Amino acid sequence: MQKKNKVVKAWIKRHVSDHYVHMAKKEGYRSRAAYKLEQLEVEFSLLHNVATIVDLGCAPGSWSQYLLRKCSKDIKVIGVDLLPIEPLHNLHFIQGDFTDNAILEQLITSIGSKKVDLIISDMAPNLSGVKTVDQARGAYLVELVFDFASNYLKPGGNCLIKIFQGGEFEQLVSQARTIFAQVVIRKPESSRNSSAETYIVCRNKKS
Ligand SMILES: C[S@@+](CC[C@H](N)C(=O)[O-])C[C@H]1O[C@@H](n2cnc3c(N)ncnc32)[C@H](O)[C@@H]1O
Repeated sequence: MQKKNKVVKAWIKRHVSDHYVHMAKKEGYRSRAAYKLEQLEVEFSLLHNVATIVDLGCAPGSWSQYLLRKCSKDIKVIGVDLLPIEPLHNLHFIQGDFTDNAILEQLITSIGSKKVDLIISDMAPNLSGVKTVDQARGAYLVELVFDFASNYLKPGGNCLIKIFQGGEFEQLVSQARTIFAQVVIRKPESSRNSSAETYIVCRNKKS
């Protein structure tokens, strides 16, 4: 218990002194995660010519906020999360589990007849504390996003997915290479060094 308290205190200390936490507050973003998307989006021009974007694991909503601020008013952004979020103007939000078929059906209905231009996923599984279990859960989410991209992303479309080091990492990168012409692994500067998260940037879906 004492160890847990120490960890919580250290997290709070780091959080209040974090540059990106201050920026997010100043710029009205719901979380510092907005800057991870910004850094990756700017480096890889992910918002070029996009009309429909799916934001998986969108709560509390800073990635969607970023998209809605950066793109034209005609953009269609569909967000999915297990958790409820404060409504965001122009975000079509679906609350539920992306791994659940009924939620996937709702998402497909919302997409409509045109395919998606960009899929972004910041989904992270609830951690059990058992490393192998958590790695397998994380990998499963990434595999489902690849599956979704294979079916609903337009040829030439892009995908940005949070992925954790270790476990099935190399296997997932190889899988991405079978679907996309260009695959790059990037940890944005705003992602904490202490976090095992990194991002897989998949560009130009093969037809
Ligand atoms: C790091 S947060 C995302 C932060 C978000 N990108 C933002 O900028 O506000 C990860 C989110 O993934 C969601 N998540 C995890 N597994 C999910 C699943 N199976 N289906 C839907 N959402 C999921 C969690 O509920 C959590 O809100």
